Amino acid sequence: MNRPIYMDNAATTRTDPRVVEAMLPYFTEIYGNPGSRNHAYGWESEGAVDKAREQAASLIGAGPKEIVWTSGATESNNLAIKGTAQMYAKAPAGSTGRGHIISCIIEHKAVLDPCKRLEREGFDVTWLQPGPDGIITAEMVREAMRDDTILVTIMWANNEIGTINEIPEIGAVCREKGVVFHTDATQWVGKMPTDVQADNVDLLSWSGHKIYGPKGVGALYVRRRRPRVRLQAQMDGGGHERGMRSGTLNVPGIVGFGAACELCDREMEAERDRLLALRRKLEVELSARMDVVEVNGHAERRLPNLTNISFGFVEGESLMMGIKDIACSSGSACTSASLEPSYVLKGLGLGDELAHSSLRLSLGRFSTEEEVDQAIEGITTAVLHLRKLSPLYDLHNEGIDITTIEWQSH
Ligand SMILES: Cc1ncc(COP(=O)(O)O)c(C=O)c1O
Repeated sequence: MNRPIYMDNAATTRTDPRVVEAMLPYFTEIYGNPGSRNHAYGWESEGAVDKAREQAASLIGAGPKEIVWTSGATESNNLAIKGTAQMYAKAPAGSTGRGHIISCIIEHKAVLDPCKRLEREGFDVTWLQPGPDGIITAEMVREAMRDDTILVTIMWANNEIGTINEIPEIGAVCREKGVVFHTDATQWVGKMPTDVQADNVDLLSWSGHKIYGPKGVGALYVRRRRPRVRLQAQMDGGGHERGMRSGTLNVPGIVGFGAACELCDREMEAERDRLLALRRKLEVELSARMDVVEVNGHAERRLPNLTNISFGFVEGESLMMGIKDIACSSGSACTSASLEPSYVLKGLGLGDELAHSSLRLSLGRFSTEEEVDQAIEGITTAVLHLRKLSPLYDLHNEGIDITTIEWQSH
């Protein structure tokens, strides 16, 4: 079977074969529990975990003792957000007025849902609204600050549109006000240089499977100095990870995570330039070959590998059917029985129709220029074909503004 071209690296990446190589011995040869302190099996595994801690910390400018291993970015976000809120709560559980949190409406669900739970549990959340460019600015955060603000959680880069928020500047506002600052950096880390010191970040989540590492392993950076951040554990048990996350460590996964971080560190610059050129080619060519094509989000403040493009006058599901040779994400999300337009695109102000007829194309380490060329051909053919069948597109070509038409029903 001919598999479609993979352009969904924001959903997950292929594990780099060099990462798999590094992991393999830790299944069958070096299999001790790193928590076993009194024999060599344990020490070997502990050594491997320590090395991975160094590799992970070094990628983001942190110290190895500031890394907490988790099962992925979802867990890292939950631990950061609920753990901070519970630790710094201003009133006991069961009461209202427990503290104020600032987040934003286009965060990943792994941030939205923990915040919504805290809202139900007596915390106040201010949901910032980005402008049409998708950016959350430091000024928006400053304006939302209150005397009882305990946490700001704003993603570094958005997973659907790739826009980059003003993270160092937001961090500076939080530092000035003495408020803990968490960022979900799942789409950012590994692709762009990160320095938690210079960028004023207190808590940072990321995930193995977005950086060519294995699935089911992630990390949370927890600042230890200036200021020291304390978290309420969400998992009770053996007190692993300095009491913040109990559970036997996933040693092969952690080794893979560390190896993936080191590769990203080493290859980031070249990879970034290559992917940026490919992404630009996608955007430039698609916009040149067709009209009514819109790249969503800020034109410049964007990840190198990801683009989100709306194609006017095509129907979303038909578009997806027309590009079966390309594995990518659409502007629709499956909820129970229906297709809902993406809340991120709607959050930027896009209408339902245009949100449905949007594609997220995300490139990665294994994407080639040939694949990009094929995708440009495939998408162009599908869109032009669908527009031939569209009476609305005919009207548009006749110069009629379809938003002004009054439709009659008989
Ligand atoms: C921005 C962002 N946050 C969190 C997650 C969840 O990551 P994980 O799959 O590691 O739990 C994702 C993955 O889709 C993401 O893109």
